[in-house]
Amino acid sequence: MIEIKKNRTEQARMDFVSGLMGYNSTGIGAAMATYYQNKTKKHKHTPQMQEVKEIMEKSPIYKFGSFFERHNHALMFQTTLDILENRKEEVISWLDSYDEKNTLGSLKLNPNLGIPSYYEKIEIHTQPGNYHGPYGGFLYHWMIGPFLVDRDENDEMGWDLANGIPKGDYKKILDLGCGIGKSTFPYCDLYPDAEVYGLDYAAPMIKYGHKLAESRGKKISFVQNFAEETGFEDNSFDLVTALWLFHEIPKPAMRKVVKEAYRILKPGGVFAIMESPPYKMMNKNYNPLSEFLLNSTAIRMHDPSIMTLMKLHRPDLLSEGGFKDTKDVALPNHLTGYDNEGSYFFGAFPWWMTIGTK
Ligand SMILES: C[S@@+](CC[C@H](N)C(=O)[O-])C[C@H]1O[C@@H](n2cnc3c(N)ncnc32)[C@H](O)[C@@H]1O
Repeated sequence: MIEIKKNRTEQARMDFVSGLMGYNSTGIGAAMATYYQNKTKKHKHTPQMQEVKEIMEKSPIYKFGSFFERHNHALMFQTTLDILENRKEEVISWLDSYDEKNTLGSLKLNPNLGIPSYYEKIEIHTQPGNYHGPYGGFLYHWMIGPFLVDRDENDEMGWDLANGIPKGDYKKILDLGCGIGKSTFPYCDLYPDAEVYGLDYAAPMIKYGHKLAESRGKKISFVQNFAEETGFEDNSFDLVTALWLFHEIPKPAMRKVVKEAYRILKPGGVFAIMESPPYKMMNKNYNPLSEFLLNSTAIRMHDPSIMTLMKLHRPDLLSEGGFKDTKDVALPNHLTGYDNEGSYFFGAFPWWMTIGTK
């Protein structure tokens, strides 16, 4: 991997914004949870969303926290971009260098692909330039640590899904919306004899992912294409996965991705996605504050499809695309501490796998 030596000022700025990101979850988040608990401790009923909204929107900590979230993200992005821009030539030429002869895996780019129409008008979760901006991979990798309060350092989310999928004789595996490969790596370890593919529309993500995979000794074929139209042959995969893809694409795109997964899977093949649980489940089993905060973050941070996915009955989405035996499965969640000790500020909830068979 490229080694970027930050000067003292750059390091200080990075430390500062990482601290802000962490404080957003652990400090502000905890303060909001305390405020909410105090306001509702005498309630005999579980507050409905309108009530949660009224409680929180009056609270100084929520008002402050909303501004803080938006602005600490912007500062984090800008700080990272400044550091990279100061070394633009070095960084871009590293990213673009590709030595096909001496690599374990491969990188197949498609320079004429374009971008999904739904990313034309927004920058998803306010990321400057979206995933396809030149520094997409760096922004994702540098920010995911502080954003997830260092709870995904060892690709825990990827492992949570990979371990949740029933073990099988998977010989060809595809991870849709693979990003920099964090959700793809576990399959190389779990199924060392399998051919592992990662697909993403954004070249800067898979260019970075390819370098990261090589540096970790993981053999992955990265392919630039749309999850809705992968270009792979019918009946060619045993397992297709998507981690943290569905909440970022609109419903018609979700439907297309499910159909595409069905087309490229062999009969008996498995399709599994992982996201946060639907709001209904959060309300029933977890703190309704989780729903309110996720919803408001989705609006504030330009992640509009979160709200669609969280209302969907996901097994039906898979069944409509042709899959059978579709079901939701609650998985351990290292991020929130669900089933794994510890808890997150707005309620420990599980990861939510939705799985079906062709
Ligand atoms: C939140 S990231 C998740 C990345 C990775 N799965 C992980 O868990 O680290 C979503 C990824 O999906 C990709 N993506 C979004 N829409 C896509 C589409 N229609 N086709 C292919 N990739 C897409 C983005 O470029 C991004 O890398």
